[in-house]
Amino acid sequence: METKNIGLRGIEVADTKISNIDGEKGKLIYRGYDILDLTKNSTFEETAYLLLYDKLPTKQQLDEFNSKLVEARYIPKQMQKNMGNWRKDADPMDMLQAFVSALAGYYDEEFANKEASYDKAINLIAKVPTIIASWQRIRNGLEIVDPNSSLNHAANFLYMMSGEKPDPEVERIFDVCLILHADHTFNASTFTARQVASTRAHMYSASSAAIGALSGELHGGANTEVMKMLLEIGDLDKVEPWIKEKMNQGERIMGMGHAVYKTYDPRAQVLKELSRKLAEKTKEPWFDMTEKVEMTTISEMKSQKGRDIYPNVDLYSASIYYMLKIPVDLNTPIFAISRVAGWAAHIIEEKFAEAAPKPALYRPKAVYVGKYCGPQGCEYKTLDLREN
Ligand SMILES: CC(C)(COP(=O)(O)OP(=O)(O)OC[C@H]1O[C@@H](n2cnc3c(N)ncnc32)[C@H](O)[C@@H]1OP(=O)(O)O)[C@@H](O)C(=O)NCCC(=O)NCCS
Repeated sequence: METKNIGLRGIEVADTKISNIDGEKGKLIYRGYDILDLTKNSTFEETAYLLLYDKLPTKQQLDEFNSKLVEARYIPKQMQKNMGNWRKDADPMDMLQAFVSALAGYYDEEFANKEASYDKAINLIAKVPTIIASWQRIRNGLEIVDPNSSLNHAANFLYMMSGEKPDPEVERIFDVCLILHADHTFNASTFTARQVASTRAHMYSASSAAIGALSGELHGGANTEVMKMLLEIGDLDKVEPWIKEKMNQGERIMGMGHAVYKTYDPRAQVLKELSRKLAEKTKEPWFDMTEKVEMTTISEMKSQKGRDIYPNVDLYSASIYYMLKIPVDLNTPIFAISRVAGWAAHIIEEKFAEAAPKPALYRPKAVYVGKYCGPQGCEYKTLDLREN
């Protein structure tokens, strides 16, 4: 009997204390805290601490955490030199995956204990933005901009990428985007990270595998595809016919739909308002166009298949990043800037869970539906006897 190929949907594979989604109510919590409270009151740094250490930091703990992050922002000069040897049109996600993996070669002192894993986590969270910003400068033939210790995580990335300090409103919008993308239970990339960690591979290896999973358009790659779609459509009046045509052809509309949420994704709600706010400021058409994509997809889905569909986190983040003047192909790497905090927390939980039941090496069962020539197996023919 064949499997239903449901992609593990609904299958419980491990316990976690890190985050939870209520798909019916449209609620997401990190370590017990509602994501909406975090976006109102918190920062990315505080959220990353919460995900890693299972509690909100005191002022002193946050200061120490921030100092460690700031100190770890630099990447080795040799690494920057190696980046210079890459093809300038290489996909930034491929580049990020390779250089995150390469970090292990520079910082390979200790992988086997939990305390050292927190240092690795901080190293990764701090360096992923620097790798992406450095690549953005290098591929455009520009001087690399060193990290600025006076700026927070969000502002520092925008500064390293563009060479200009962002204004406080832009900095906060980007900070909220980072909070919203930091974790999302057992999504494809996090599950990939956990699966690799379950073999006892180290944090850089598990994270680089997660970056590979994030790059696909059904996962993190969707935000890049949303912006490409908006640019291709080009005009508010063309949105409706464009969406209808694609859906009539059976194509998926990027940024719409979710495997877990059966109602509005709470992250999309926050991002929608941020996109609206930015569009009022920049007078660009991208918010209105995105809202039209949302409305048209919802009504087409209803009339074609009689089912509901809602925007996911990628729909409105695309226009936000575009209005923040972030190149379209950096949308997915930016997702990684934030999600690496979640990956690191999950990798530590996977490897060092103290309470039973401890996570086990993942090894699912497959249903073999291939060739069968009888109980003896197929007759092996040597090369000279084989025909097409
Ligand atoms: C995310 C996603 C894979 C979740 O899928 P899912 O809830 O498991 O739903 P399925 O893939 O089983 O699809 C269910 C049905 O809805 C349709 N559907 C799902 N998302 C759709 C979309 N974005 N546009 C058009 N149709 C969609 C499917 O074609 C399918 O129709 P069918 O039953 O007639 O074959 C899916 O919604 C999707 O591909 N979205 C676009 C990519 C995206 O934005 N990814 C980012 C996720 S955060």
